[in-house]
Amino acid sequence: MGLRRSDLEAHPIIQFQRWFEQATGARAGGRLRKFFIGVYKSIFMLGGGPPVDVNAMTLATSDNHGRPSARVVLLKGVDERGFIFFTNYESRKAQELTENPQAALVFYWPDLERQVCVAGQVSRLAREESEAYFITRPRGSRLAAWASKQSETVRDRAALEEKWKQLEKQYPGQEVPMPPYWGGYVLSPDRIEFWQGRANRLHDRFRYTKNPDKSWQIERLSP
Ligand SMILES: Cc1cc2nc3c(=O)[nH]c(=O)nc-3n(C[C@H](O)[C@H](O)[C@H](O)COP(=O)(O)O)c2cc1C
Repeated sequence: MGLRRSDLEAHPIIQFQRWFEQATGARAGGRLRKFFIGVYKSIFMLGGGPPVDVNAMTLATSDNHGRPSARVVLLKGVDERGFIFFTNYESRKAQELTENPQAALVFYWPDLERQVCVAGQVSRLAREESEAYFITRPRGSRLAAWASKQSETVRDRAALEEKWKQLEKQYPGQEVPMPPYWGGYVLSPDRIEFWQGRANRLHDRFRYTKNPDKSWQIERLSP
């Protein structure tokens, strides 16, 4: 399956949404889709294969000496502002984003032989928007956000579990507020590349680059 210039949307976010929907199989729609997801899951359980996180993306950041670091986070939204993810604002990635707000993302969807590479500037979401997402998370995940000083050393596993148990008692009901050091980021892209694998390594690559007038230039790149 190739990628032609005439297949591309004028706006890279719309193009991304199309590819993302294809990666999640959302196009199959409604009941039929649920049925196929059920079949797919049971095949995976039988085969013991890994669950597929199509919204998993590698986030690369760097400190103010230009030293890079990368890790996987989950895409939790994409809109006209860009790509949204949530994390701990005191983590290593957050400290690096404070030093240098330029970051990159990579998605890889092996079933479709597709890769999407994104680069741009990252900014924090408003607290209310992060809270609106936080309350949708399972209680255990909300407690974990309090229990974990993300990216810091911890004495041992028992210390982590003890903290979690204390928090469970402290917040017995469903009410677990969002920690002040937790929230979302949006990466606003200025460059997005769509990569489609092809035979003989003659892959198709198209790069969208944002112009000063905010329109997008599209160019084919050599594989
Ligand atoms: C599939 C997957 C999804 C993850 N999603 C997130 C996420 O959405 N937010 C997050 O903070 N960490 C997530 N993590 C953990 C990060 O990879 C990382 O360990 C953590 O954020 C600390 O990174 P840092 O020390 O570089 O800041 C995820 C890990 C995996 C493997």
